[in-house]
Amino acid sequence: MPGKLIYEGKAKSIYETDHPYEVQIYFRDDATAFNGEKKGQINSKGILNNAISSLFFELLDSRGVPSHFIRKIDDRSMLAKRIKIIPIEVVVRNIAAGSLSQRLGLPEGQVLPRAVVEFYYKDDKLGDPLINNSHVDVLGLATPAELEFLSARSLKINDILKDYLAERKVRLVDFKLEYGKSDQEILLGDEISPDTCRFWDADTNQKLDKDRFRRDLGGVEEAYQEMYDRLKG
Ligand code: TMP
Repeated sequence: MPGKLIYEGKAKSIYETDHPYEVQIYFRDDATAFNGEKKGQINSKGILNNAISSLFFELLDSRGVPSHFIRKIDDRSMLAKRIKIIPIEVVVRNIAAGSLSQRLGLPEGQVLPRAVVEFYYKDDKLGDPLINNSHVDVLGLATPAELEFLSARSLKINDILKDYLAERKVRLVDFKLEYGKSDQEILLGDEISPDTCRFWDADTNQKLDKDRFRRDLGGVEEAYQEMYDRLKG
């Protein structure tokens, strides 16, 4: 039985546990896009995102990238270390898509010569604006050394995930990471799932992620299930 609700996000709910330094993260089926303007439900999404995130966190742990993940509790829940989220969303991009394509006029699908790292200020009221190093500094969100660490760590995660996915015939287009502090240690947090990544089939470029929901492409549940099957298989 989970304890008191600590925080309700757009797709996950965080509960207290018997242990003060551990939380239970419950993955719901709720889906939002465009900063909550578009709302819906994706059947079984909570189950699949919990399973997919658990698998990615285990993979990363085995490659020396620590995260808040402790273990999967049940279909929709994982046990995690309680962390204080750093309000910076780190986006890594290998292929132009989404807001990068719009902002810089790069056609969707154009392979970038190197990975691009971006920072967004995690603030729903402001719509998570794109920020640079100076903004991070002036807002006091992280020290320059911490930001450098987040950037390097995110690129390492990109290398690990890109290779792992390529073996499963998936192109890792881009993804978003969040980090938090437990004591003074910085840990990867949140989730890694089709909600927070763009995954394209390596042969057909078929979208296997939340863009199917954002853009009303249909086959949303099927895409999440397909990603889970490929990762597991
Ligand atoms: P973007 O192209 O819309 O900026 O998205 C880049 C990546 O970040 C994409 O994989 C989806 C993910 N993302 C989130 O996880 N949460 C968000 O709120 C947004 C805007 C993007």
